[in-house]
Amino acid sequence: MSTTIDLRSDTVTKPCQAMREAMALAEIGDDVYGEDPTVNLLQKKVATLLGKESALFTPSGSMADQIAVGILTRPGDAVMTSPDSHIAFHEAGATPMLSGVQFSFMPRGLFCADDVRAAYHDNDHHYPPTTLVEVENTYNMGGGQVWPLEQLRDVASAAGELGMNTMLDGARLWNAAVATGHSEAELSEGFDLVTVCLSKGLGAPVGSLIAGSSEHIHRAHRLRKMLGGGMRQAGILAAAGLYALNNGRGRLHLDHENAKQLGQAIENIPGLSIATDKVDSNIVIVEVAAELTSAARLQERCATKGLLFWPTGPQRFRLVTHLDVTGEHCDRAVSILKDTCGE
Ligand SMILES: Cc1ncc(COP(=O)(O)O)c(C=O)c1O
Repeated sequence: MSTTIDLRSDTVTKPCQAMREAMALAEIGDDVYGEDPTVNLLQKKVATLLGKESALFTPSGSMADQIAVGILTRPGDAVMTSPDSHIAFHEAGATPMLSGVQFSFMPRGLFCADDVRAAYHDNDHHYPPTTLVEVENTYNMGGGQVWPLEQLRDVASAAGELGMNTMLDGARLWNAAVATGHSEAELSEGFDLVTVCLSKGLGAPVGSLIAGSSEHIHRAHRLRKMLGGGMRQAGILAAAGLYALNNGRGRLHLDHENAKQLGQAIENIPGLSIATDKVDSNIVIVEVAAELTSAARLQERCATKGLLFWPTGPQRFRLVTHLDVTGEHCDRAVSILKDTCGE
């Protein structure tokens, strides 16, 4: 078999025929006027799923995140987040540039309520007001790590007690729900604004949402407009999102099983090991022994054999399972890695 196995990201999936048909048949209107019935339906559905009053469709997760930060902070504030969170590390520097805020970095990994309390500065004029705590669930650079519900709630309560706002980057919240057995609404409780993506594990070609109180989402409309994110007959995209929600959530457990299978097999390849304690969802971060090779060199050599992935550091790379990856693909990926490491 000669097809490429693309484990770079769960964003690489292509819409299936049924999703394309749903898009072609979508009822549409001008969404900048609030008149697209399919967008309105999607927004209502996602708000309900997340247990929030209202939601707004955005072209990307990055835009949804930036709108959330813009609403929950003022220029000069500080945002508590992980050093390698998406808003800090992978949004092209947008957070400080667009919202005029700086980061107050938490310990790497899943931080806890005490970390929030320890990093909080009282009203001392030497420090910026720390007004927002941001949590990513699942935690991408943490290898798709899933926050235990209690820890998530404790962090949100600690933030609330200190008078801070809370934001949840739930680009892969659907995966967290499947992995924990808790609903998306339970995982969103205590967070002022929650962002979710339809274009990752759920398989839509494009689209994210931001959800929260009606007042916050009213403000989100203006920010989206300022960022150029108002889309007209966006129902075509929202129809893909609805299809993804209705058909994608129920199969995410397969991606998790495939990732676990990958993780276990990789542990048996000399020179490779899993960088995290365990595989929680659909992301596996692999550590490459320095004596063997570098992540970039391994990436190059595997790519010539039809296996694609991204390095996340000099000795680390990331494998992401998704809709277009089967158990058989994972077996082939492992044998390509094994052969290449053994050469
Ligand atoms: C955790 C997380 N948040 C936000 C995003 C941003 O999504 P987008 O690529 O749609 O801007 C991503 C994208 O991979 C992500 O992994």
